[in-house]
Amino acid sequence: MPDTRATPRPPSIDWLASFPGIREHEPLAPQSWYGIGGRARYFLELSDPAPLPELVARLNTDSLPYLVIGAATNILFAAAEQPGLTIKLSSATLSMNGNAVSVAAGTLMPRLAAETAKAGMAGLEFGAGVPGSVGGSIVGNAGAFGGEVKDRLVSAEVIDEAGQSHTVPAAECAFGYRESIFKRARQHWIILAATFRTTPEPGLAVRARLLDVQKHRRATQPIEQRSLGSTFKNPPGDSAGRLIDAAGLKGMRIGGAQISPKHANFIVNLGGATADDVLALMAEMRDRVFERFGIELEPEVRIIGQAPRG
Ligand code: EPU
Repeated sequence: MPDTRATPRPPSIDWLASFPGIREHEPLAPQSWYGIGGRARYFLELSDPAPLPELVARLNTDSLPYLVIGAATNILFAAAEQPGLTIKLSSATLSMNGNAVSVAAGTLMPRLAAETAKAGMAGLEFGAGVPGSVGGSIVGNAGAFGGEVKDRLVSAEVIDEAGQSHTVPAAECAFGYRESIFKRARQHWIILAATFRTTPEPGLAVRARLLDVQKHRRATQPIEQRSLGSTFKNPPGDSAGRLIDAAGLKGMRIGGAQISPKHANFIVNLGGATADDVLALMAEMRDRVFERFGIELEPEVRIIGQAPRG
């Protein structure tokens, strides 16, 4: 017997609810490196992006909202329920061809760094200090310890809103400090894969640099705790961590969230932190740094479900 009490879905949602692999009301906290999040109304994990072009075209035709995530290492899920479809791209293939390495968007940057170092391919060691997926790292032109995605990217394979494929050369990505065209004019394009350029060098030397990156990161950042990495971008010529530290905020706690005593630009989840705890700490960091230094900090973490202040 059909349940007559159930509210019928609008017809446009019907196909989505029965799409293979769709989960409803999925908790997002396990997806985020903060361990914080509400639920996704609809959720789909794709380890193979093959169905994506058709899916995205249909979502756009039906004006259904969607959000594509990778490892979610810099996303704060602030909404109680994320509307529409949340798609997690976990495709993680990697293949080498001469000095080039091609990877699926879901490949983690530390894995890309480790595998290329092992093969005597230099230039991606900085990736050991970038705890995100290749897709997210291209969007934010991630960087650490002197290297940035833009230095080594050859091109990105993407699909647009209509599900059409494009190859975008690095020169057309409009890269800047933690910036790319995929945050701006092409923010609805989805990165599926990328090719990076490396330089041949004895594996031992490349691995030694990679170990240095890991060592420095362990010494200066609270990597043993749950965080989203740098909370704010560095303002021109200065460091957000230095400013927040000098404003006396290290160790400050709100609920389960704390400004790391090890690095002031990291907010760590001590257990049970909520999105509101993190947002309240971020507001405090911005306010105090502005009062003290007249510098307006800009978030590096991506807040989904609530507009960042300012
Ligand atoms: N500092 C303090 N107090 C602190 C933290 C830092 O005084 O609590 C000082 C340090 O002593 C240093 C300066 O601030 O003189 C810069 O600090 P650090 O070397 O740790 O680098 P950062 O500018 O804070 C950037 C990236 C990191 C990247 C590191 C290492 C940004 C926003 N952050 O941090 O990237 O790992 O350099 O290269 O660009 C990330 O983007 O998520 C990230 C972790």
